[in-house]
Amino acid sequence: MTGLGEATVLDRFGRPIRDLRISVTDRCNFRCPYCMPAEVFGARYEFLPKPQILTFEEVERLTRVFVELGVRKVRLTGGEPLLRAEIPKLVERLAKIREIEDLTLTTNGFLLSRHAWALKEAGLRRITVSLDSLDDEVFKRMNGRDWDKHHVLQGIDAADKVGLRPIKINCVVQRGVNDHTLMDLARHFKGTGHIVRFIEFMDVGNLNGWNLSQVVSAREIIERINAELPLEPAEPHYRGEVANRYRYKDGSGEIGIIASVSQPFCGDCTRARLSTDGKLVTCLFAKSGEDLRGPMRAGASDSELRALIFSVWERRVDRYSEERSANSDLEGYVDAGRKIEMYQIGG
Ligand code: GTP
Ligand code: 5AD
Ligand code: SF4
Ligand code: SF4
Repeated sequence: MTGLGEATVLDRFGRPIRDLRISVTDRCNFRCPYCMPAEVFGARYEFLPKPQILTFEEVERLTRVFVELGVRKVRLTGGEPLLRAEIPKLVERLAKIREIEDLTLTTNGFLLSRHAWALKEAGLRRITVSLDSLDDEVFKRMNGRDWDKHHVLQGIDAADKVGLRPIKINCVVQRGVNDHTLMDLARHFKGTGHIVRFIEFMDVGNLNGWNLSQVVSAREIIERINAELPLEPAEPHYRGEVANRYRYKDGSGEIGIIASVSQPFCGDCTRARLSTDGKLVTCLFAKSGEDLRGPMRAGASDSELRALIFSVWERRVDRYSEERSANSDLEGYVDAGRKIEMYQIGG
């Protein structure tokens, strides 16, 4: 396995490994009830101790190995990635890897205005900001911290000014929680060049009490927006794009819909996840991952690490969302065993 071509790997369904989502911290300054409910993640909650967290050097080393196996797109996530000290230094290391065509980060935006410039300087290309509602009462409830939207909007503006574009705004839609505020979000960002993506509420992790009745389907979201702001479908940018794109008919921009519940997209899933403590996770809904940190710290060479990742990916058969939707009794679908939490692998 010397040349790049020889090293690339396909899983059992013929899917290559193209995207790497790296969680750089399991901490977060928000307590979104669908991810880190405040009752569970209180002041005494013990997050990972520092020695268990991959260093920047280790993240860079593993990323280079993943790149040899075919990764071309890297996204930094968390928890909240901007809580990781000196995160621009990691960006700078990764930006130097020539083969990476897309280097981006998903943040809740609260600390973004403070970091936007340094991130851009370090070589970050673009950014995705989570923002579930512009209605302060709803937003406060959804971030679990009673913080209004002010800092997040400032963060988006700062990212725009330094050119971290295109900016994507992720909104998780939960029926009865924020679905009555979707139109505001769409209207607010229409014409700004930013792309709002509405995400069907998913049953990730074990803590969010997911229930199908809380999911607003992609179809319903489109219908609601289209009724007021006419839309037309747009072609995907690339095969396996997570969001379905829709353009405003008046030419004032686009939105995306991520329909992982009603129209799962496992068939083209080329995403690997690296957890904060160095586990390779091959599906968002996995129950465990393969430890890479242990072998790395025990002295494994790059080619040994590559062989390990290769063997995990080669055996990969994950298609959780498709299996869930193939289950005729969606409402009663109970998945045995504990899944990894979203904040450990960053969505
Ligand atoms: P772009 O590269 O900007 O198109 O972003 P992306 O498609 O990688 O999307 P992003 O990382 O912003 O993910 C948006 C949301 O889609 C995530 O927060 C998840 O909720 C969901 N999502 C992303 N990847 C997967 C996946 O592999 N499986 C499932 N089921 N959902 C996913
Ligand atoms: N369903 C859908 N999206 C989710 N996210 C977190 N939890 C869920 C869920 N249960 C989203 C966040 C953020 C991204 C990292 O994942 O809102 O945009
Ligand atoms: Fe933090 Fe994101 Fe989880 Fe909310 S969804 S608690 S912002 S990691
Ligand atoms: Fe990929 Fe798993 Fe999501 Fe399917 S459910 S798209 S296999 S991460």
